[in-house]
Amino acid sequence: MTIIASIDDFRTAARRRLPRFLFDYADGAAFSEVTCRRNVDDLHATVLRQRVLQDVAALDLRTTLFGRDQPLPVVLGPIGIAGMFRRRGETQAARGAHRHGVPFTLSTVGICSMKELRGAASDGPLWFQLYVIRDRGFMRELLARAKEAGAQALVFTVDMPIPGIRYRDAHSGMSGPGAAMKRVAQAIGKPGWAWDVGLRGRPHRLGNLEPVLGNASGLNDYMGWLGANFDPGIRWNDLDWLRAEWDGPLIIKGILDPEDARAAADYGADGIVVSNHGGRQLDGVMSTAAALPRIAAAVGDQLTVLADSGVRSGLDVVRLLALGAKGVLLGRAWLWALAAEGEAGVARMLAMLTHEMRVAMTLTGVNAVSAIDHRILANVSNNFSTKE
Ligand code: GLV
Repeated sequence: MTIIASIDDFRTAARRRLPRFLFDYADGAAFSEVTCRRNVDDLHATVLRQRVLQDVAALDLRTTLFGRDQPLPVVLGPIGIAGMFRRRGETQAARGAHRHGVPFTLSTVGICSMKELRGAASDGPLWFQLYVIRDRGFMRELLARAKEAGAQALVFTVDMPIPGIRYRDAHSGMSGPGAAMKRVAQAIGKPGWAWDVGLRGRPHRLGNLEPVLGNASGLNDYMGWLGANFDPGIRWNDLDWLRAEWDGPLIIKGILDPEDARAAADYGADGIVVSNHGGRQLDGVMSTAAALPRIAAAVGDQLTVLADSGVRSGLDVVRLLALGAKGVLLGRAWLWALAAEGEAGVARMLAMLTHEMRVAMTLTGVNAVSAIDHRILANVSNNFSTKE
């Protein structure tokens, strides 16, 4: 049995339980996975100032994002096919998040549809993620469903005009020749997963896409659909209709450059997520820890800057807040917890993260999330690793 003391331990436990194609799909990243590692390394290299005797007896971890109060400055970010990692996984993760009052973001390509999620999860805070899809009519329909389900914010992912190249997927059975056979063989070797997800977790369809794709919304079509339906021809002014269609908070996800951040602000976005998609898109780009300070300086007074990629502890959450984020999206962190222990795992992971944030805040002498900024950092300008 794996002792779970950290998010990395959840990863170890998930690895034991999952067939290889799923573990590698989640753990892997683009090309040589350099940026994926850099996200983690640059957070580790972000050095904090230890402060003492600052009266931090009462800590306030609350924050307000897009006009709503939440007990923690974190959100479960969108992850495709999370329902393959645990039975009806999106509903379990949403319930785990809601135990802590944390918003859950449903991906366009989740296994569970918006409707299933609302039916099976608690009525806690829900965000919805949308890709730039060629078929506008379909995007409109998804937005209408999201509204119906009471989604509070729209996360519009713009860093995937084309799927990243992920070498591991071709080897593992996620894609490539003989993939379906490889997956069956792997599932036989993981009976816990095979029973929970393989058999009892059906249907394995992309729930939100089922109305348009019907029987072709199965897992086999997942990577194909991603590749075939994204629209690389889109520009900022093509998004005006989106503003007209969605009257709630609109968050642009996948910003890594101050110029794009300014464009998002000019466009009228309510928020951005500084992200390189967990290193899953273009390898060799900056880590979010390195990109964030300049972006926050450029647009932090015009919109809400969120960040993700590389977060493996509450200490990392505090680091990203210090580097300029107002909130942090979790990705692999919640997926590992879900795969390892389901809803209880996600809730446990958030409890661990909360505890880790408390320790980090106490020892850096800040008593409120709203007070975390670059002053708790020892080396803002020169701490980022350049190693490959
Ligand atoms: C999809 O967004 C992925 O990163 O695989």
